[in-house]
Amino acid sequence: MAVQHRHNYCSVIKYFTTCMILSICALFYVSLTIENYALNYFNFSMIKYDDKLLFLNQSSLTYHMEQTEFYPHLPIQIYTKNREKFIKLRNKTKKIILLANGFFDDETWSMKSIKNKTNSGNMSELYCSFLNNQCEITNDRNRFTQADAVVYHMRNYINRSDEILKYRHPSQRFIFTSWESPRHSIDLRSYRNFFNWTMTYKFDSHIFASYYASDTYRSKDSQWFKNLPYNYEQKTVLYENINTTKKLGTVAALISNCLTPESQRTLLITELKKYVDVTVYGKCGKPCPNSIDCRTYIAERYYFFLSFENSYCEDYTTEKLFSTVALPIVPIVFGKVNYTRYIPQSAFINVQQFPSISKLSERLYQIRTNRTLYQEYFQWKKNFIWDRFLQFMSPFCDLCLRLHLDKTPNIIHNIHKWWYHEKCDPEVQN
Ligand SMILES: *[C@@H]1O[C@H](CO)[C@@H](O)[C@H](O)[C@H]1NC(C)=O
Ligand SMILES: *[C@@H]1O[C@H](CO)[C@@H](O)[C@H](O)[C@H]1NC(C)=O
Ligand SMILES: *[C@@H]1O[C@H](CO)[C@@H](O)[C@H](O)[C@H]1NC(C)=O
Ligand SMILES: *[C@@H]1O[C@H](CO)[C@@H](O)[C@H](O)[C@H]1NC(C)=O
Ligand SMILES: *[C@@H]1O[C@H](CO)[C@@H](O)[C@H](O)[C@H]1NC(C)=O
Ligand SMILES: *[C@@H]1O[C@H](CO)[C@@H](O)[C@H](O)[C@H]1NC(C)=O
Ligand SMILES: *[C@@H]1O[C@H](CO)[C@@H](O)[C@H](O)[C@H]1NC(C)=O
Ligand SMILES: *[C@@H]1O[C@H](CO)[C@@H](O)[C@H](O)[C@H]1NC(C)=O
Ligand SMILES: *[C@@H]1O[C@H](CO)[C@@H](O)[C@H](O)[C@H]1NC(C)=O
Ligand SMILES: *[C@@H]1O[C@H](CO)[C@@H](O)[C@H](O)[C@H]1NC(C)=O
Repeated sequence: MAVQHRHNYCSVIKYFTTCMILSICALFYVSLTIENYALNYFNFSMIKYDDKLLFLNQSSLTYHMEQTEFYPHLPIQIYTKNREKFIKLRNKTKKIILLANGFFDDETWSMKSIKNKTNSGNMSELYCSFLNNQCEITNDRNRFTQADAVVYHMRNYINRSDEILKYRHPSQRFIFTSWESPRHSIDLRSYRNFFNWTMTYKFDSHIFASYYASDTYRSKDSQWFKNLPYNYEQKTVLYENINTTKKLGTVAALISNCLTPESQRTLLITELKKYVDVTVYGKCGKPCPNSIDCRTYIAERYYFFLSFENSYCEDYTTEKLFSTVALPIVPIVFGKVNYTRYIPQSAFINVQQFPSISKLSERLYQIRTNRTLYQEYFQWKKNFIWDRFLQFMSPFCDLCLRLHLDKTPNIIHNIHKWWYHEKCDPEVQN
């Protein structure tokens, strides 16, 4: 399972790395200065402060938190009050971020600039080159005592008897990091008072890290878009001319882990197949043609795509949703997520909003056979642009900033409770 996840993840990373070579991506960010960053980025930075489970004291913070006005409604940090303070960062000493264990055994965490065990990565690779002088990322454990942040990936081994832990000092932040759901995590009861901050996809993390980064979109009405220093031409038209004649069938899925017969996903698909044609692509289904991206292939030939998460855990959403949102197909979602945080209600079909699979199928038939109705699912995209505005590891940019700007001490007393408090539905795996 871990290996499987790693594969998915690494291919995502490779994709981004390739993209970085494209000048469009590079130009976007390299051209931003730190002052621009203050104007542009802070208002859209994705950091969230939670006062409940993480024992944060809101009143002692100078940040103003809210959700972005446009989709996706991510938790962001509005930092207008502290703009002055932010600009002063230019002259501050670098914060050291230590990657204290591997990322699925990858010591470099897929960062190209970290070539070996005693190297440093740079912030450009994370799409925040304007922070190159503010932070340094390293996996050199000999620099433990210098580190301002010590980042642990929770899917990798953590040696609790490690000598270096004896030298932990109170100003360091230990970071609990996971891009994956709690399903395969370890028991965390022995980690009481160990971590200071969290960096996960959960909306109440200190540093928010979402698979949204895999296929990002921004509203053209947003200030962010208006502030772009050049005229942006949308490369892909995602709403006009949706071909409502799809040749191959009604519903398709792309599943990389073979389905176990008893899993919720299998049961749903089996049930759905009683009423409507469903084609499963992927390792245990039909092979995709090699010549074309499988999702694109499906999107052009089917009406609906099953974006079913393999873990039914609070807030857990992956590329299963985001890669579909960018394509001319309507996602049918199933996950323990408030999807309207990411896309409007008019953009997707949620299995859970139907009393039965047969009712769901009736609706699918209705949508499929009414061209106008089908096209309505794409209307919202008119006001959005798609591009790689982020890199999957970009939360490290937020971490860098927060290390500079948030002086409030914080100890996570009960990480086990926070991570597991809403148990994942055990039936839904695969
Ligand atoms: C929060 O922090 C402020 C300033 O440090 C302090 O005055 C206040 O008592 C704290 N509140 C709680 C509930 O701990
Ligand atoms: C940074 O330092 C330089 C040289 O010491 C100084 O001239 C400049 O005003 C400083 N900038 C800020 C934003 O503090
Ligand atoms: C940062 O790393 C990238 C990727 O290795 C490299 O191309 C770039 O030159 C580096 N930039 C700096 C400022 O070190
Ligand atoms: C790691 O990379 C640095 C800089 O590229 C180089 O100086 C050093 O010799 C390398 N170390 C090893 C063990 O390869
Ligand atoms: C954990 O750290 C201790 C102390 O440094 C060391 O002796 C031990 O070999 C480490 N265990 C593993 C599995 O790396
Ligand atoms: C961000 O906030 C600053 C300060 O209030 C403001 O001048 C700027 O226009 C805002 N930028 C965006 C993109 O909203
Ligand atoms: C839509 O797709 C169908 C089936 O692939 C094709 O025959 C038709 O020409 C396409 N229509 C348009 C307007 O592209
Ligand atoms: C879901 O998210 C939307 C957008 O942020 C919000 O308006 C709505 O209240 C949320 N619904 C629930 C049930 O939390
Ligand atoms: C098709 O859908 C549109 C938009 O919802 C609706 O106004 C129209 O009545 C529907 N047509 C039929 C034949 O059901
Ligand atoms: C981080 O947590 C440790 C362990 O509970 C604590 O000793 C330390 O003061 C905390 N550091 C910060 C900066 O909050």
